Amino acid sequence: MAKILVTGGCGYIGSHTIVDLIENGFEVVSVDNNSRSSIGSIGGIEKITGVKVKNYTLDLKDYDATRSIFLENTDITGIIHFAAYKAVGESVEKPLFYYENNMFSLINLLKCVEEFKVPYFVFSSSCTVYGNPDSIPVNEKTPTKKAESPYGATKQMGEVVIEDFFKNANGASILLRYFNPVGAHPTTFIGELPIGRPMNLVPAITQTAIGKLPKMMVYGSDYPTRDGSCLRDYIHVCDIAHAHTLALQYLIDQKNVSKCDVFNLGSGNGITVLEAIKTFEAVSGVKLNYEIGPRRSGDVVAIYADNKLAVEGLGWELKYTLEDMMRTAWEWELVVSNKS
Ligand code: WQD
Repeated sequence: MAKILVTGGCGYIGSHTIVDLIENGFEVVSVDNNSRSSIGSIGGIEKITGVKVKNYTLDLKDYDATRSIFLENTDITGIIHFAAYKAVGESVEKPLFYYENNMFSLINLLKCVEEFKVPYFVFSSSCTVYGNPDSIPVNEKTPTKKAESPYGATKQMGEVVIEDFFKNANGASILLRYFNPVGAHPTTFIGELPIGRPMNLVPAITQTAIGKLPKMMVYGSDYPTRDGSCLRDYIHVCDIAHAHTLALQYLIDQKNVSKCDVFNLGSGNGITVLEAIKTFEAVSGVKLNYEIGPRRSGDVVAIYADNKLAVEGLGWELKYTLEDMMRTAWEWELVVSNKS
């Protein structure tokens, strides 16, 4: 059974990916300092899979601590690297905090890949690397643009560092560019746990609907889109999770065409903010209290994925609709709110 190290394993996408890896026959260890996540996710993973995953609670910026994981687990076949700060707005306020955390963690991990000859590396990248695209949908050949935030810059630089490293390394890597991951595991045992006031659309919707927030703002209705609100590609977190398992298997089966293959992980459907809200209202039966406000700086006007490469190359079959995304996000909010 191939052993995989998942960094950020207690986080939103990390925890869902661990569930999918276990369900597909992989052994998993996690490393997460829980600075932006809850160790409770490990319990949720165990409830779903029956497997108690070991989590190393340490900071990947600490090289010796990071190295200790590999001394204790000499049979790590692959790494899926999620651990990073990802709040766009915060990264603008604290650029060095982001560059230090996201880049030092990655470089420490790659130094361990080199020393311990870990063959496969999957990187959590983002559609943020495309900036404001000149045409949509975007495919993996669409030129990247100067990042709109230090967060986006760390994803762009991360991709460059990994590509350069694997040019000379024995193994191979994959860059997975997520669009907008939303929703929760159908069991409601794991889901998204935003810290403080939610920045992202779907948790803002569900927290407003449940009354945690008095109302939510729609940031702009004067964009050149079909209804004036921004257009995004929402994708269920479980579909994203399964793509990671497929990416690892693709590397293990030596199907990669380069030492650093790139895939867009999006649904291929562009949905506006107002359409997302309408879908949520239809699925939940809750009328959402929102107001149209000014644009949010740094927002991309419109982006959605051409996901053909991932569908055909990885054999990725999407299982969840926009309605499923909204329903599972709402069911998760109902559970989390009952706990608090
Ligand atoms: C989506 C749309 C907002 C909140 C995210 C992450 C980023 C990266 C890519 C992973 C925008 C609008 C939002 C609200 C609103 N993820 N909105 N009211 O900006 O596309 O980026 O996905 O790598 O880390 O931030 O997602 O959910 O923040 O916003 O109107 O209260 O919803 O203006 O148009 P975004 P988002």
